[in-house]
Amino acid sequence: MAILFVNEARTYAKINKNIYGHFTEHLGNCIYGGIYVGENSAIPNVRGIRSDVVAALRQIRVPIIRWPGGCFAEYYNWLDGIGPKENRKCIVNTSWGGVTEDNSFGTHEFLDFCEQVGCEPYITGNICAGDPRELSDWLDYVNFSGRSPMSDLRRKNGREEPWKVRYVGIGNENWGGGGNMRPEYYADVFRQFASYIRRNNHDLYTVACGSNGADYEWTEKLMQIVGPRMNGLALHFYTMPEYYRNIERFPWEKKGPATGFDVANYYRTLTRTLDMGPLIEKTKAIMDIYDPERKVDLVVDEWGAWHLPEPGTNPGFLFQQNTMRDAIVAAINLNIFNQYAERVTMANLAQMVNVIQSVILTKGEEMVLTPTYHVFDLYKAHQDAMRIESYVQQDLIGTEETQVPGLHASASVDEQGNVHVTVANLSATDAQNIRAVLEGRKFSSVHVRYLAGDMNDHNEFGKAPRVFIRDMQGVTLADNEFTMELPACAVAEITLH
Ligand code: AHR
Repeated sequence: MAILFVNEARTYAKINKNIYGHFTEHLGNCIYGGIYVGENSAIPNVRGIRSDVVAALRQIRVPIIRWPGGCFAEYYNWLDGIGPKENRKCIVNTSWGGVTEDNSFGTHEFLDFCEQVGCEPYITGNICAGDPRELSDWLDYVNFSGRSPMSDLRRKNGREEPWKVRYVGIGNENWGGGGNMRPEYYADVFRQFASYIRRNNHDLYTVACGSNGADYEWTEKLMQIVGPRMNGLALHFYTMPEYYRNIERFPWEKKGPATGFDVANYYRTLTRTLDMGPLIEKTKAIMDIYDPERKVDLVVDEWGAWHLPEPGTNPGFLFQQNTMRDAIVAAINLNIFNQYAERVTMANLAQMVNVIQSVILTKGEEMVLTPTYHVFDLYKAHQDAMRIESYVQQDLIGTEETQVPGLHASASVDEQGNVHVTVANLSATDAQNIRAVLEGRKFSSVHVRYLAGDMNDHNEFGKAPRVFIRDMQGVTLADNEFTMELPACAVAEITLH
């Protein structure tokens, strides 16, 4: 039996709700088909934006969405995506499948989408092909309330009031496709852009391009040269299961299948995703040297399990199924982000709809909520709650090759005093008996919601969902303790009053 300790009396940092953020890109059917279908579509929509998708995203309280990429942002010109749709430029999406991009989803549509979802927008500027004036103009266009060439253009395009766009990324992956820059060069480019764009926008939250996984030299240089001139430092880290135990390289070529995988692959995936912990720990240690007052946040603005595309789909579209294994990956990462809430203040799952580890899949008018979606539902009570002490006394499990902890947990207390513990059973095969020991105050009730299935279980178009949230019956509190049996490959939310 594993023992789960939860101590409400020991509180740590506030868990920024933006840790539960998402990432969208002009890639495959993330935007077109997945979010935007156009006003004339038979699929119910508001100004072209799918109503079913918006309703599902509101349910999990999506706090922030990053857009328009990713790689797409590295050559995106925002001016192509404003004004009458018939006049918008058609371009080639050279990053993703070489398809025609008609720019019918642009700045107004993205910000409308965020307003419908009820979340903050986070835009990524093009510093590779674009210059500081281009990004500055974009920010004037969306934020300036007085008269200026850009705010007048916004009004001409039908929007009187400015939006409030606060979060802006200064480039994307500039160590790679975003300019192939050295850290010293990028750091100077960041300083140039950041000082220029702040002229009319004093309340901006700027995010610098962070390291490619475990490239600690990049982190160190950025902290040395940019330091508190940035509000956030990004970090990108994908879970690619077939690449075993080496976070020193970026393993593009080592993805495995999204479904139909075996137990060895399952545990390898979990080991790989658990590397998010040491990766953040080491990055944080460097940040602590240069920024002991924690003025600079760590922003994990791309993360997720990246598998091979579904057979028969366009390989440039990165469409993959999503199983209970992905749910466990999500649970582990979100627990890790909660545990590092004093430095990690935002994270964006890649990508929200139809691409990589999605919470939603769509096909025509059909919409499927993935196991990962349900994890975000189970974890939503952590948003803006205070992290509290929790740890698990347990054995390691897995295969001879790969050992992982049996359970993975985090806990928080919300403003109303409710304690929420999220816990995943990482075993592919065995249920886990848990004895929970609660401290800090006397609790009177416990309620458990959970998600469980075979590691390969997933939800499919045209079929009743296999994976969904259930209530666990028969869990009762006595003397601030309770026991429960968590099924194999499961994620649970325990609420204590
Ligand atoms: O999410 C897919 C791609 O992965 C993004 O466009 C890029 O930033 C990253 O390399």
